[in-house]
Amino acid sequence: MIRLNEHYAKLQASYLFVEIARRVADHAATNPARPLIKLGIGDVTRPLPPSVITAFHEGVEEQGNAANFRGYGPEQGYDFLREAIAKADFAARGCPISANDIFVSDGAKCDTGNFQELFAPDTRVAVPDPVYPVYVDTNVMAGRTGAAVDGRYEGLTYMEGTEANGFVPSPKDLGSQGAEVVYLCFPNNPTGATATKEQLAEWVDWANAQGSLILFDAAYEAFVTNPELPKSIYEIPGADRCAVEFRSFSKTAGFTGTRCAYTVVPSAIEIDGIKLRDMWNRRHSTKFNGVSYPVQKAAAAVYSPEGQKETGDLIAYYLENARIIRAAMEKVGYSCWGGENSPYVWVKTGESSWDTFDTLLKKADVVITPGSGFGRMGEGFIRISAFNDKERVEEAVERIITALS
Ligand code: MLT
Repeated sequence: MIRLNEHYAKLQASYLFVEIARRVADHAATNPARPLIKLGIGDVTRPLPPSVITAFHEGVEEQGNAANFRGYGPEQGYDFLREAIAKADFAARGCPISANDIFVSDGAKCDTGNFQELFAPDTRVAVPDPVYPVYVDTNVMAGRTGAAVDGRYEGLTYMEGTEANGFVPSPKDLGSQGAEVVYLCFPNNPTGATATKEQLAEWVDWANAQGSLILFDAAYEAFVTNPELPKSIYEIPGADRCAVEFRSFSKTAGFTGTRCAYTVVPSAIEIDGIKLRDMWNRRHSTKFNGVSYPVQKAAAAVYSPEGQKETGDLIAYYLENARIIRAAMEKVGYSCWGGENSPYVWVKTGESSWDTFDTLLKKADVVITPGSGFGRMGEGFIRISAFNDKERVEEAVERIITALS
């Protein structure tokens, strides 16, 4: 008889956004009157920028022409895209990253979820709390944890994000158990917190001293507009020896439905005499056949002068939404984090997060994300996403204010 992976049975609830979608579908089925406004999952609403669309079309045309047709591409991504990434996202910021360290993929969610496959089952892993659930659930699925007790998995170390530390844990929050692999995400999902260069340097120095690895999720780096803040962990000296970075075109350029991302595994990282880059290359080329050519062509257009201008406008558009949301929530009297250098606003309501979720769904027909869905430390908070059209955001905040007043 087939035995299933018993670790899946430890998973607590359905994936957060699946549970939200279920509640929203139930509500919409019984309350069709007022259109819902979704500020829940961070899914973009604005169309792909014109220069991206032009390149996308060109890529499709080339695939329809015998002279230019391409079959399988390199699993790691086409050189034209990897080189554009290395130049614009890293060399331009003084980061020692080459095109050879870059692996193009179809999503940062998949990459952050899959990367743990490279580590031994008993690797000691630390995650922040609140946390993007993918880091946790994929380690549970891999059998790296015990059972869930009071919403936390035995065997995982949780670093608490609090008002006191501004939702930026430091290596001190690991306690005596330490960790071999640490997940960090800045600008943070869900709290919108950003880390300074000094805060990241503390992590990098700690990791290099311990021989530990940082898995750094930078999917929201495009929202960093403060020039003092780092966009990449490789802006910190020594990070190329201890950090893997995940990036995405989803939120940067509107690719959530088009799918393109990349992971950086610097050649300088060696564990037990093995280059981590070569191990990820082995995994990537065994399990993945590359992102489609037209999509990579579209992604490369993000780095053209027009692409940079257009994606900059997109980011500014969502950041203005974030500003509107944060200003409205503060006006009601709530403490807020994020919404600056981040598309997420983290709001302290002091009520049960799922109760606030249900109240806003029922009374305001607005979808947000309950903070407790991101971990114990998220209880009493909600996350409001700036990814929607400005008019809808303006209407949503009015409805939220009425529902909560
Ligand atoms: C979120 O809302 O947290 C994100 O959209 C999830 C994701 O990017 O996978």
